[in-house]
Amino acid sequence: MDTFAFIIHPIDPKRDVSRKFPFLGRVLSERQIDFFSTFFPPVYISEIEGIKSETTGKEIKGWFIACPYTPRRMMELPEKTVYRKIIQTGRLAEKLGAQMLGMGAFTSVIGDAGITIANALDVPVTTGDSYTVTVAVDALREAATVMEIPLRGTTAAVVGATGAIGQICAELLAENVERLYLIGRRRDALEELRDRLQVQARTLRPGQPQAELVISTTMDVLADAQLILTVTSSIDDIIRPEHLQPGSVVCDVARPRDVSAMVAAARDDILVIDGGMVDVPGSVNFHFDFGFPPGKAYACMAETIALTLEGRFEDYTLGKHLTRERVEEIDAIAKKHGFRLSGFRSFEREVTEQHIETVRRNAKNARRLHALHT
Ligand SMILES: NC(=O)c1ccc[n+]([C@@H]2O[C@H](COP(=O)([O-])OP(=O)(O)OC[C@H]3O[C@@H](n4cnc5c(N)ncnc54)[C@H](OP(=O)(O)O)[C@@H]3O)[C@@H](O)[C@H]2O)c1
Repeated sequence: MDTFAFIIHPIDPKRDVSRKFPFLGRVLSERQIDFFSTFFPPVYISEIEGIKSETTGKEIKGWFIACPYTPRRMMELPEKTVYRKIIQTGRLAEKLGAQMLGMGAFTSVIGDAGITIANALDVPVTTGDSYTVTVAVDALREAATVMEIPLRGTTAAVVGATGAIGQICAELLAENVERLYLIGRRRDALEELRDRLQVQARTLRPGQPQAELVISTTMDVLADAQLILTVTSSIDDIIRPEHLQPGSVVCDVARPRDVSAMVAAARDDILVIDGGMVDVPGSVNFHFDFGFPPGKAYACMAETIALTLEGRFEDYTLGKHLTRERVEEIDAIAKKHGFRLSGFRSFEREVTEQHIETVRRNAKNARRLHALHT
């Protein structure tokens, strides 16, 4: 049977450590977990079984293994130290017999996004970022449909637009919407991205619709956008209730999240959805609770699984420059084996029809009130 392994790591230190070590999660503070994680070895988490391709009937199995570092620790420690720990975790995958290795959340953000790690390991590696792009953009488009926001004529925004995932999401969304804000911290990188996307559209898709591209280094412009895709590597949340307009949709792909939990608490006129959740074909059992309902996985896990079902045992998505070809190819491979976009979730809860109806109604009322006061 073909096999894969997927590297996870604690994101919310107390919650996630408790999932494997309830006692340690209870007695250690966040700071202590951060500190001790430096000395902790890679951890075997669980075996993953029950995955079966819808098309070929091929069955595979896998393992979750954990790199003990939290995002904050990965940002604080020297890059080489972090690489070393991720490579050590990859060696555990090799010992288990994995034929494909996926890198979850921040393990794929650090440094050159998997290239150094893949060079040091024998097992083929993927960050899973190509499929994450497809799933995030599809989820935002579908959420626009349910919120009755027509893509043409709409202003959208990509936060973290200069990042590995953000760049391609911006490229795809620019083909659908009227105006697109590219938001990041470095003006020069944003200008370069804007110019590249404009040239690309003129040369590769002449005469086709293309959004007006506007760059910004502040979140204030979000008040102008109805559709927002956010995918930064910020450790702290950066999108707060006051940034958003009534009726807008925010697809949060980042882990840790970019959208403050205060948005859910204070704004019942906005739809926030978690980006990157898919249904896995077969009756998968992860034997580990990573916060999703049964049968569902992050898109980056799904890319690793889909490549294993396809028997594509080669380095796949690596580095900070993703290609449109890989994004389209992995989408086709995943569809072929039966991966599907899941229903919406928001802050770890299912988004019901009723919730969407409430958001739509509250947004209308908020707009009406706003119009009365201006
Ligand atoms: N849901 C999933 O399945 C899934 C899969 C893979 C990755 N992810 C998550 O996706 C996120 C991004 O990954 P990536 O590989 O694209 O990372 P990346 O290449 O490092 O890009 C991160 C982007 O975020 C921007 N940024 C960082 N801090 C910011 C801040 N405080 N304010 C505004 N912008 C900020 C960076 O801007 P600068 O250019 O200024 O540095 C850059 O544009 C991570 O949170 C990762 O965990 C999720």
